[in-house]
Amino acid sequence: MEDLDSSPYAETAPQAGAADGEPAPAKRVFIKTFGCQMNVYDSERMGEALAAEGYVATENPADADLAILNTCHIREKAAEKVYSDLGRLRDIKSARAGEGKETRIAVTGCVAQAEGAEIVARQPAVDLVIGPQSYHRLPELLTRVRSGEGGLVETEFPDEDKFKALPSRRPAASVSAFLTVQEGCDKFCTFCVVPYTRGMEFSRPVASLVDEAKRLVERGVRDVTLLGQNVNGYHGEGADGGPATLARLIHELAAIDGLWRIRYTTSHPRDMSDDLIAAHRDVDKLMPYLHLPFQAGSDRILAAMNRKHTVREYLELIQRVRDARPDIALSTDIIVGFPGETDEEFEETLAVVRDVKFAHAFSFKYSPRPGTPASTMDGQVPEEAKRERLERLQDAIDQGHAAFNLASVGRTLPVVFEKPGRREGQLVGRSPYLQLVHADAGPELIGQMVNVEIRAARANSLSGVIGTSE
Ligand code: 5AD
Ligand code: SF4
Repeated sequence: MEDLDSSPYAETAPQAGAADGEPAPAKRVFIKTFGCQMNVYDSERMGEALAAEGYVATENPADADLAILNTCHIREKAAEKVYSDLGRLRDIKSARAGEGKETRIAVTGCVAQAEGAEIVARQPAVDLVIGPQSYHRLPELLTRVRSGEGGLVETEFPDEDKFKALPSRRPAASVSAFLTVQEGCDKFCTFCVVPYTRGMEFSRPVASLVDEAKRLVERGVRDVTLLGQNVNGYHGEGADGGPATLARLIHELAAIDGLWRIRYTTSHPRDMSDDLIAAHRDVDKLMPYLHLPFQAGSDRILAAMNRKHTVREYLELIQRVRDARPDIALSTDIIVGFPGETDEEFEETLAVVRDVKFAHAFSFKYSPRPGTPASTMDGQVPEEAKRERLERLQDAIDQGHAAFNLASVGRTLPVVFEKPGRREGQLVGRSPYLQLVHADAGPELIGQMVNVEIRAARANSLSGVIGTSE
């Protein structure tokens, strides 16, 4: 994961599980990841499954024997981008064919799940379409493609646990890592494709997550973000055989020596249980950061969205979280221009943003998704109005973000350094509040937690000096 300060629905750099090695590799794989952090995690795991088959990563699609687009269907733009990338991959495939080289193209992720065979119909150069629940079958499906089957589409929701089928080895890791603990969503917000593309909620057992976290820690990971489309609805099998809550899982993970920091995303207000709020007070390793989407500031729109909470309930919840952990950084998702949203209702959204003073927020123009109830609702809002509302909303969000960062100036924060900064002699790391922090320091501090005295706040990062104040 590159940068949590950029949109979680941006594209991320190509990646795969294997490092470049010698002798010259037989097969190269290019993986491009669109969308959420869960896709980033899935791409990593696909890279590992392919590394076990002898593939190494390449960042250049023209070098790739296998090109994978791990796609996102959450908004229209993300899905359309996949087709333009597929056009480019088709050109590469035919250029390589001219040089006698074979190229396989696979589409995975939520566009694969939602559109299935339609993808091969629109872009016949595609060899393989695999939904998010089936990517552990990638090696086997590739063998079938190599033996002559073309345009394979695999979008079932198989019963088998894909996590069991994947190789358990994790690649040499960086300081922070994602860990998918839960998938799918049963909430059915009327704007959202996730319940259709990722299916019903499924939680991994506590024991296998503790195992995976321990392996990550052995490889140097110190900061783990637990992922799930509805992560606080987690209900995986616990030690007694019954379902465990996310709070229980966090307590178990906090007992792992060498794991310093735990975060989780994305949560639903309805599943913000008392024990999870208490964990923010009681578990030191649970970082003071909460991403809790509210989507809209009007009760009428929230009801039309099927959000299952009112504005007041959301604000009361925020208060309880702040009572448990007063310094918590709050983050959220907001949609403007949901069908029927009036100017006054949009003003109510702005009022919530000003009231809560989020440290961070992602804002989106409503994008009709085929098959979802909202896409056929009356009162679709014109593009121009959506654009204006988004601009005003982003101004309000930026003010909260700047105020939050400014309040850190003069404080000394424990920073876990992750990598070299852009400037020579500089490192970049994360504060407990997920802020990016730059400081002058030698590379020996990568992977260490160090006190940094914050001296300045920029738009998207802080900078400071090592050591505590005199
Ligand atoms: N249009 C706009 N934004 C959407 N999101 C989900 N579906 C849509 C849509 N159809 C946003 C929500 C969600 C985030 C991941 O993406 O705010 O929380
Ligand atoms: Fe989509 Fe989140 Fe609503 Fe589930 S809770 S339907 S993932 S927006």
